Amino acid sequence: MMTVKEIFETMDYGAAPESAAEALAWLVDGGDRFGHFINGAMTDPGEVFEARNPATGETLAHLTQATEADVDTAVEAARKAQAKWAKSGGKARAKVLYALARLVQKHARLFAVLETLDNGKPIRESRDIDVALVARHFYYHAGMAQLMDEELPDREALGVCGQIVPWNFPLLMLAWKVAPAIAMGNTVVLKPAEYTSLTALLFAQICQEAGVPKGVVNIVTGDGAVGEMIVKHPGVDKIAFTGSTTVGRRIREATAGSGKSLTLELGGKSPYIVFEDADIDSAIEGLVDAIFFNQGQVCCAGSRLLVQEGIAEDFHARLIDRMAKLRIGNPLDKCIDVGAIVDPVQLQRIEGLVSQGGSEGTVHQPVKAPEGCFYPPTLISGLSSSSLLMQEEIFGPVLVSTTFRTPAEAVQLANDTRYGLAASVWSENVNLALDIAPKLVAGVVWVNGSNMFDAAAGFGGVRESGFGREGGWEGLMAYTKPAGKAVAVKPAKAHAKPDTIEVLGLDRTAKLYIGGKQARPDGGYSQAIYSPKGKLLGHSSIASRKDIRNAVEAAQKAQGWTKATAHNRAQVLYFIGENLSARAEEFTSRIKDLTGTTEAKAKAEVEGAIDTLFTYAAWADKLDGAAKPVPMRGVALAMNEAVGVIGAFCDDRPLGGLIDVIAPAIAMGNRVVAVASEAYPLAATDFYQVLDTSDVPAGVVNILTGPHDGLAATMAGHMDIEAVWSFSSAAISEVIERESAGNLKRTWVNNGMSRSYPARDWLAQATEVKTIWVPYGE
Ligand code: NAI
Repeated sequence: MMTVKEIFETMDYGAAPESAAEALAWLVDGGDRFGHFINGAMTDPGEVFEARNPATGETLAHLTQATEADVDTAVEAARKAQAKWAKSGGKARAKVLYALARLVQKHARLFAVLETLDNGKPIRESRDIDVALVARHFYYHAGMAQLMDEELPDREALGVCGQIVPWNFPLLMLAWKVAPAIAMGNTVVLKPAEYTSLTALLFAQICQEAGVPKGVVNIVTGDGAVGEMIVKHPGVDKIAFTGSTTVGRRIREATAGSGKSLTLELGGKSPYIVFEDADIDSAIEGLVDAIFFNQGQVCCAGSRLLVQEGIAEDFHARLIDRMAKLRIGNPLDKCIDVGAIVDPVQLQRIEGLVSQGGSEGTVHQPVKAPEGCFYPPTLISGLSSSSLLMQEEIFGPVLVSTTFRTPAEAVQLANDTRYGLAASVWSENVNLALDIAPKLVAGVVWVNGSNMFDAAAGFGGVRESGFGREGGWEGLMAYTKPAGKAVAVKPAKAHAKPDTIEVLGLDRTAKLYIGGKQARPDGGYSQAIYSPKGKLLGHSSIASRKDIRNAVEAAQKAQGWTKATAHNRAQVLYFIGENLSARAEEFTSRIKDLTGTTEAKAKAEVEGAIDTLFTYAAWADKLDGAAKPVPMRGVALAMNEAVGVIGAFCDDRPLGGLIDVIAPAIAMGNRVVAVASEAYPLAATDFYQVLDTSDVPAGVVNILTGPHDGLAATMAGHMDIEAVWSFSSAAISEVIERESAGNLKRTWVNNGMSRSYPARDWLAQATEVKTIWVPYGE
C-alpha cells in the first residue's frame, strides 16, 4: 500500500480494480462445467477443456468439446426452427432482437467483467467499447428486422448459418454474426473460439430470457475441429467466419462446390499514414488506439506506421514518450491501458515473430511487461516495406514503421501488402486526405481516426483480408438471397459433327478478343461449330492458360476505365446497345443457327441483351453510395468502388449470357475477361465488331472461347483477378471456388442452379463498398 505522501510524490495512479465477484459467482452457479446451448437449453457437459484467465493463469471453468453428434443436433435444431422463425415476420423478430439489446445493457457489467476475465482485455475497453457496441448492434438490427418486410420485400433468409468467431472480440463478433442473421429470419449454430467462450454462454442465457424461440440460436463450444464440423455439415446453408487468413483459406476450399454461401473476415496489416501537416498530438493518440487497443489483437489494427520523412524523428520520439506512459497489467484494473495476451500460445507467436524479424530495425520497448502472459508495447522503426514484420500480421502490441517522402509513395507503400482491410490517413489538409482515401486498397478508411466501428457502417476487406461486409444495409446481403426458386442448369452440348458436312461459304475461324484486338489462340487450336442440322457454321478458337494470362494483362492495363466518370461509362454502354440494335437481325439469325431455337426466341434474346445494356447504362451513374449516421462527430461514407478485373464464365445463351456479365461489370468500372458460351461461342465472337465500333477502350472487355473446364482453374487461380463469376456448370463452380482460395478472390457462382437476379444483386457483385469515416459536423 502506498502512503498518501508517496502517491503525491510520484503522482502515480493507484489501482482501481473492478470486482470479479459477480462474474465468478455466475460461473459457480453454472456448475463450473458447461455444456452447449442447443434447442433453447444447456446440454450436459461432455469431454471438457479448460477456460483460463490469461492474466493470472487461473482456471475459470470447464467447457465441452463438441462431438459430431453435438453439431448434428445443433444443426437439426436450427433447421427445425428456421421456417417458422422466418415466417414469424420481421416485426415479431424485431421485438426479440430489441429484448436482446435491452438485456445486454441490463447485464452490461457482468458481460464486461466476464469478457475481461476470459480474454485479458482491459475492463475499460470491454465495458466502454465491446459491450456498448454489442448492444448497439442488436438495437440496429432490431430495426432492420422491423423494416425488412417493407424495405426488402424481394429478399429472404438463407436458412441455417454456421458462424465461427475468434477470440479477440468474443462477444462483439458474436453480435456481428448473430444479430443480422436472426434479424433476416435465419437460424444459427455459432462456435466461439476455444480460448474465449464464456460470454457466448452468458449470451445463451439471455437468449432464454429474451424469448428467442428454441433452436433459433445454438452455441457449441470446442476447438478448430468443431469449426471444421460446422463448415462441412451438409445441413448448413452459409458459413460466416472471422479469424486467420490461413483458416479462412481452408474454409474456402472445404466449402467449394457445396452451394454454401460464404463470408470471410480475415487478417490485416493496416497502414497508418501520417503526413507532415497532421495534428501530431492527435495522430499519436490515434496511434495508441490503433495498435495498443486490445493488445494489438485487432484484425484492422493500424499496425504499419508510414510517417512522412520530415517529421519522422520527432514523431517517433513523441510516440516513444507516449508509450512510456502506457499502463500495462491487471486488466480488471480500471486504470490499465494494456492487458494480457489472450493465451500463452499467442504470446509465443508474438515473441517468435519479433525475435525473427525485429533485428531488421530498431526495437523500442519503453515500458516493461509484468511477469506472465503480457507483452510490452513495442515500436520497431527503420524497417523497409519488404521486411518480414512489415508484411506479416503480428496480432500483438507491436507497431512497425517506415517513412515516405511523397503522397504517391505513401499510397504505394500502403498498398504493398497482400491484405486490404483498413487504413488510417492523418492530415489537416482535407484535399490531401480525400485524395488519398480512394487510392487505398482497403475496405475501411479512417480519416484522422482509427478503429472506429458502428452497426450502421459496413466493415470488411478486400484481397486476402476476405470478402463480404458486416454492418449496414450492405451487411444484409450476406444473410439474404433474392426470393424465388433456382432451377438446375442443364449445360448445352455443342452439336456433333454430322456424317456429311454442309459448308456454307467461307470457313472462318473466329479469333479471341484481347486488349481490343483479335488474337490467334496461343495453342493454335480451334473447334468446328455445327448447327443442330449439321451445317458447319465456322470454327472457334480454343483458348489456353496463356491466353487467359494475356487477357488478364490487357485488362489490368485498362485501369483508365475504372477512373473514367460514371457518365462516361454510361455513354459507352448506351453506344454498345445502339450498335447492337443496328445489327439485331444478324445476331438473331446467328442465335437461331447456333441453337436451333425459334425466330421469336432468338429475337427476344437479342432484344433482352439490348435492354440489359441500356439498363446498366442507366445504373452506371445511379448506384448511390451513402452517408451513414454513425454516433460520432462525423459520417461514414459508403462508396461503391469497382472490384477490379472480373473473370466470368457465361451461360448457354449465345449473346444474352455474355451481355449479362459484361454490362453490369463494366458499368461499375470493372474490366472483364469473359469466356463465352461453351456450346455456342459464335455470337460472342461476332460481338467483337460491336465493341470495336462503340468506343470501348482496349482491354476493358476481353472475350475468350473454348471449353470451360480447361480455363476455370487458371482463371480462378490467377493472382491479378479480383473476382470470378460463373453461370456455367456445377463442376465449373466447384473448381472456381476451390482455386480462388489462393488470393481469396471473390466468387459468384451458380453451383449448377440458375435463377434470375435483380439488377441490385448484379451491381452488388460488381462493386466493393469502401467505408470512409470522415469528421463532419459537431
Ligand atoms: P484461428 O483462425 O485459428 O481461429 C479463429 C476461429 O476459427 C476459432 O473459433 C477457431 O476455433 C476456428 N477454427 C480453427 N481452425 C478451424 C478450421 N479448420 N475450420 C473451422 N474453424 C476453425 O485463429 P488463431 O489460431 O486463434 O490465431 C492465429 C492468428 O490468426 C493470429 O495470430 C492472428 O494473426 C490471426 N487472427 C485474426 C483474427 C481476425 O480477426 N482477423 C482473429 C483471430 C486470429
